Amino acid sequence: MKRVLMLGPPGSGKGTQGERLARSLGVEHISSGALLREAVAGGTPLGHQVEQAMSEGRLVSDELVSEAVRPALQRRNGYVLDGFPRKLSQTDGVDFDAVVHLDVPEAEVVRRLLGRGRADDTEAVIAERLREYREDTLPLLDHYRDVVVEVDGDRDADEIAAELRERV
Ligand code: AP5
Repeated sequence: MKRVLMLGPPGSGKGTQGERLARSLGVEHISSGALLREAVAGGTPLGHQVEQAMSEGRLVSDELVSEAVRPALQRRNGYVLDGFPRKLSQTDGVDFDAVVHLDVPEAEVVRRLLGRGRADDTEAVIAERLREYREDTLPLLDHYRDVVVEVDGDRDADEIAAELRERV
């Protein structure tokens, strides 16, 4: 059973490709953002605590994201994780067989996200999410350098999926 992390800027296709890769590997796709959005939509105590940070494009606290994600990890041996860890302080005890880096230029991710229109897909919030990505998440590439799989994410989604099936 493989453990894979999808890493890339907002809008790089972590969700799109993560779901396809998980299906082909026969494991679950676990998205920290989706779990947090479910908590917000369900009006749970966790949801109330993370709502404001998410709407402003800021990362939520390590404790709160752990509360959302760790139970899902403990139940499984293999998974494709999307969105966690996304800063060095979240990497304790979380190891992977492969870390997929979806490389997409910022202008392209902004174009994709403005076209999608999720609640946090406004210009100001996207700019903050990109800043968080550059400052907090990019250092994970060095942390996991032995297992990083570099992928050009600025291509047709089917081509990317086919490459991932071969290389992961
Ligand atoms: P999260 O849900 O992880 O959002 P994100 O990283 O901003 O990523 P997105 O979901 O926007 O994009 P994606 O890369 O998955 O791309 P997608 O496949 O959807 O996190 C949201 C928030 O939760 C964070 O801001 C933070 O507040 C909080 N959070 C989450 N995890 C956290 C953590 N660990 N610590 C602290 N806080 C945390 O594709 C995007 C669009 O592009 C779609 O419309 C898609 O159809 C399109 N598209 C995809 N691939 C292609 C392609 N090849 N060509 C053209 N279009 C494409």
